[in-house]
Amino acid sequence: MKIGIGNDHSAVQMKNEIKEYLEEKGYEVVNFGVDTEESCDYPMYGEMVGRAVVAKEVDLGILICGTGVGISLAANKVKGVRAVVCSEPYSAKLSKLHNNTNVLAFGARVVGVELAKMIVDEWLAAEFEGGRHQRRVDLLMDIENK
Ligand code: RB5
Repeated sequence: MKIGIGNDHSAVQMKNEIKEYLEEKGYEVVNFGVDTEESCDYPMYGEMVGRAVVAKEVDLGILICGTGVGISLAANKVKGVRAVVCSEPYSAKLSKLHNNTNVLAFGARVVGVELAKMIVDEWLAAEFEGGRHQRRVDLLMDIENK
């Protein structure tokens, strides 16, 4: 599985640790984020990863900024993206099972790296359940066409 990862200046170290963690587990990780702590603007990194997911250049996206909020908002502006910000594993898991999220975001200033790994693990391991949730996800995506 190929994962696109994106981050701003507040999450360089966290991005590197998560990238390494995923690569050790056998995932291919494409880095769309910055690698220096020089101040930058998070929207473009959220957009880049969102577009890569929708274009199927990568299977899923992971975004990290200070809070996870701004970068996930940017990704959610891309048609076809369902990005979720999580600071605990339960919501991450349920967001995939029920909402079929295709982008996960979290904050490098909110969660520690070990918690971030648990969030990522739960999210990646979960599979969309479909059924009644498919109808709801379809309704959600219809909003983009109104
Ligand atoms: C950058 O200082 C910070 O605003 C950004 O990383 C993020 O938290 C925005 O939502």
